[in-house]
Amino acid sequence: MINILGISGSSRIASFNTALLQTAGELLIKDFKLEIFIPGNLPLYNDDLAQGNTPDNVERFRQKILSADGLLIASPEYNYSFSGLLKNAMDWAGTDTLRNLLSEKPVAIMGASKSIFGTARGQMHLRQVLAAANADVILKPEVYVPQAQLLIDDTGRYSDQKTQERVHKLVRALIKYLYKINNIYSDFTKCLPFS
Ligand code: FNR
Repeated sequence: MINILGISGSSRIASFNTALLQTAGELLIKDFKLEIFIPGNLPLYNDDLAQGNTPDNVERFRQKILSADGLLIASPEYNYSFSGLLKNAMDWAGTDTLRNLLSEKPVAIMGASKSIFGTARGQMHLRQVLAAANADVILKPEVYVPQAQLLIDDTGRYSDQKTQERVHKLVRALIKYLYKINNIYSDFTKCLPFS
């Protein structure tokens, strides 16, 4: 079973981005499970907290990252960047004070917004932050969902085929990468020790 942690960059009840993750969770892919997490209640990152008694909800969030095979992130674009809520979550996940859990973590990203750019600018910033954390970010396909308000139906879902297909292709790329690295690593361990 492949366990993916879906992280939404929005705690809005009718979030277009949480809905994108729901679309991913409803995909009929064999041996694939997605848990959606909204890091809305994490305290603002403070290194004193990381060095002292780390809050329980931070520990639980970090445990979810640790036990997931990969991450699927969907974030809104705020002022041409990704959301502060997500940045805070990435700082808690990637802090060296506790241990950078994002390093070498397979991560796929996507986003939906009201504008015609569909979070393209925000995702560039997110890629930069994930590069700093040494995450293994899936480069393609890029999933920008523009004018999401026109695509979401009355039940708060993306019922249009185009959005569903785009999310499907991204999830497939993430799964393909997970299979690839797992095979490579199992072959690699056969080469050890170096004697
Ligand atoms: C926005 N929005 C927005 N949209 C966009 O495409 N580019 C942008 O730079 C911004 N900037 C921005 C700043 C702030 C402070 C807010 C509140 C909103 C609109 C945004 O796409 C819209 O609110 C989405 O609905 C947010 O995503 P969720 O909450 O639906 O997931």
